[in-house]
Amino acid sequence: MAVRAPSSDLPIALENASVSVGALTILDRISLAFSPGTPTVLIGPNGSGKTTLIRLAMGLIEPTSGRITFGGRERVPPLRRAIVFQRPAMLRRSAAANIAYAMAAAGIDRARRPGRIEELLALVGLTGFGERPARRLSGGEQQRLALARALARDPEVLFLDEPTASLDPAATKAVEDVVQAVVARGIKVVMSTHDLGEARRLAGDIVLMHRGRVIESTTAAEFFSTPKTQEARRFVAGELLV
Ligand SMILES: Nc1ncnc2c1ncn2[C@@H]1O[C@H](COP(=O)(O)OP(=O)(O)OP(=O)(O)O)[C@@H](O)[C@H]1O
Ligand SMILES: [Mg+2]
Repeated sequence: MAVRAPSSDLPIALENASVSVGALTILDRISLAFSPGTPTVLIGPNGSGKTTLIRLAMGLIEPTSGRITFGGRERVPPLRRAIVFQRPAMLRRSAAANIAYAMAAAGIDRARRPGRIEELLALVGLTGFGERPARRLSGGEQQRLALARALARDPEVLFLDEPTASLDPAATKAVEDVVQAVVARGIKVVMSTHDLGEARRLAGDIVLMHRGRVIESTTAAEFFSTPKTQEARRFVAGELLV
C-alpha cells in the first residue's frame, strides 16, 4: 500500500482576501503566500492590519471575500498552527502548568508531558523556572513562556504578533534567540514587528502593510537594498508612515 505523506498546512495562500467589519475594510484584497522556509516578517504602522492578517492566516477569522487555503485545502482546523498574541495571558498557575494545559488541549499523551515540558523550557531558556508562578515572571520571561506554550502542540507554523514589543534589548535578544532556534527546527515563523532592526535580523521575507493593503512583499534582501515603492523607501529610511 502506498504511504501518503502527511498533509501540510503550508503554503498558506491568500487570494484576494478581504476582511470587513460593516462598512470598514480592514484588509483589502490581500494576495500572498506563507511558504516553508525562513521567517516572513509583517511590518507597517499601527492599524495597518498586521494583527488581522495574522488572525486570518491562523484561521481565527474568515475572509469576508476572497479565499484562504492551507496546503491547498480550505477551512483546516488549526491543529498544526500556533499563535502567540500581542499580549499573551498566563494562567494563574506555574510556568510548567501553563505548558501542560496547552498540551492537554492539544491531546498530547499525559505520560509524554513532563519530559516535553522540560525540553520546551530549555528551548526557551527557562530551565529551572517550571515551578514559578507564571504571572510573576518578567515580561520577557512571560513572552518566552508563551512561546513554549505555543510550541507545545508541535506546530508546523508559528504566528508571533509583536513578540518583542515593550521588551528591553536583552529581553528582545533572548526572544529573538528562541525564534532562531524555532526556525532551525524547521518551523515556519510568521511574525509582526514595529522594529525594523528586528526585521533585518530575522526576516527571510518582508510584507509591508499600510491601511489594510500589502504595499510590498519580497525577500528581506531585496526590500532593504532596493525597496520598490515610495512607502517602502520612506519606511526603510525611518520616516513615519501615517
Ligand atoms: N473587529 C474589529 N472591528 C472593528 N475594527 C477593527 C476590528 N479589528 C480590527 N479593527 C481595525 O482594523 C485596523 C487594523 O487593525 P490591526 O489590529 O490589524 O492593526 P495592526 O497593524 O496590528 O496595528 P498595531 O500595530 O497597532 O498592532 C485598525 O484600525 C483596527 O481598529
Ligand atoms: Mg497589531
